[in-house]
Amino acid sequence: MANIWIKKPMEAYEADIKKSQLKRVLGKWSLTAIGIGAIIGGGIFVLTGTGAYYNAGPALALSFVVAGIACVFAALCYAEFASILPVEGSAYAYAYGTVGEIFAWIIGWGLILEYAMGSMTVAVSWSGYFGKLLKMFGLHLPYWMTTDPGTANKAFGEATSQIAKGGLPLEKLQAFQETINNFNAAPQLLDFKLFLNLPALVIVLFVISILVRGTKGAAKANNAIVILKVSAILFVIIAGVFFINVENWTPFIPEATTIIENGKSEPAYGYGGIIAGAAAIFFAYVGFDAVSTQAGEAINPKKDVPFAIITSLVVCTVLYILVSLVLTGMMHYTDFNPLGKYPDAIKAPVAYAFDIAGQAWAGYIITIAATVGLISVLMVMIMGQSRIFLGMSKDGLIPQTFAKVDAESGVPRKNLYILGAVIAIVAAFTPINDLAHMTSFGTLFAFTMVCVAVWILRKKEPNLQRNFRVPALPVIATLGILINVYLIFNLSPEAQKYSLIWLALGFVIYFLYSKKNSKLQNGGFGETFKAEQKPLEDVDINIDNKD
Ligand code: ALA
Repeated sequence: MANIWIKKPMEAYEADIKKSQLKRVLGKWSLTAIGIGAIIGGGIFVLTGTGAYYNAGPALALSFVVAGIACVFAALCYAEFASILPVEGSAYAYAYGTVGEIFAWIIGWGLILEYAMGSMTVAVSWSGYFGKLLKMFGLHLPYWMTTDPGTANKAFGEATSQIAKGGLPLEKLQAFQETINNFNAAPQLLDFKLFLNLPALVIVLFVISILVRGTKGAAKANNAIVILKVSAILFVIIAGVFFINVENWTPFIPEATTIIENGKSEPAYGYGGIIAGAAAIFFAYVGFDAVSTQAGEAINPKKDVPFAIITSLVVCTVLYILVSLVLTGMMHYTDFNPLGKYPDAIKAPVAYAFDIAGQAWAGYIITIAATVGLISVLMVMIMGQSRIFLGMSKDGLIPQTFAKVDAESGVPRKNLYILGAVIAIVAAFTPINDLAHMTSFGTLFAFTMVCVAVWILRKKEPNLQRNFRVPALPVIATLGILINVYLIFNLSPEAQKYSLIWLALGFVIYFLYSKKNSKLQNGGFGETFKAEQKPLEDVDINIDNKD
């Protein structure tokens, strides 16, 4: 009978590493840039207004500290694992060797929310920034080319029913009329009107065209983008300092109260608001763990992957705290009220704060930085997903197509093409952005599991060689688990509901497909792996133990 808790022995990882056709081309700084490339995206430019107005007020900076700490706990745990297992599967692979197959599977399945679904939502937000960039140059794409069918039909239905009800103020009437005109202007295809988010589709295909050529080229492109976006953020921080009004920071932690919106009252501010704010802006931190998916391509993975995970996270945390301080210093947090005097400020808070300060140029810099910067987020996320699938496929838990590495480029091309096609189609034709919070769920879920797994491995295999050790492990792992679970509970109820449905679907697939096809369940990993298990400390996973 199959044992759903079966663990992948270290010999099997060793065999995987020996057989791997991935090319080891990534050095310490390229790996760090991969982390920063994945972390800094639209989140910091968009979510800060929401976090300040609805949750934390000027203490938004503390929300970034809390979310940063939650990530650091997880990052330390990732770093310890990466120093033991230089393989591409990230949290999935770590769990397979320590806790067991079903646990690993559900983490891998949850990681799809982080990476594949994250890529879809990033592609859609890229399309939004690209639209703004075109607008800056007086260009404009038609509505039908930038809107998915679900969103277009919903907006059309809403507009027609509102107009039919009557009694609308002129401004609203005109806006609804424009929605109807936009809808009617879409080309007709048989019985359907054609709507798609074309820029989202094109950017995914563009990124895939870079990724299939090899990791070295992708890393070079990523390095260049990272330099650009970090410079832009530093520029915003330095310029913003001159427009800070310190009175906007007082009181720094506004008294706890409730905000009433759409008839619903929500708790806000105070210490609870800081935590809720941390959950609201958590998406801005998503990505540093992608470094661990590149371990199979790192030149010196056991040392450089832990270094890159921690360094990229620390750099971004510092930048984020500074941006949030500048923002809440430039604009009073209550001015982000969508029903107040600046109704649009909450959608693009950083650009808006500069606009109000009479510095519209900053808006241009932010739009350019976000448009270019999101390309590297997309690149790293798709790359990460492809490597996790590669690991899962090698183990037989998903179809073998995903495990084939192209000899010339050293990357899993077929895997990337399939992923690219699915991500591009979903981003172009579905209202995926409504589900963006599920990305945070998948990430927090994996973080929690990695904190659990690292602890288990330390207990079970205390003598295993570790190039990096989590300091004060029981404390860090416990805090990591508590804080990440707490943040999961603070995500929107829809995100929680749909993510749980996703995980439930994962269990169904495991029992219908993965368990039956698992190489481990079927007697091992071919001739390179013998099922007899040695204690882990007797196994040398033979990468960079030289020094
Ligand atoms: N952290 C990335 C962003 O903010 C995903 O866009």
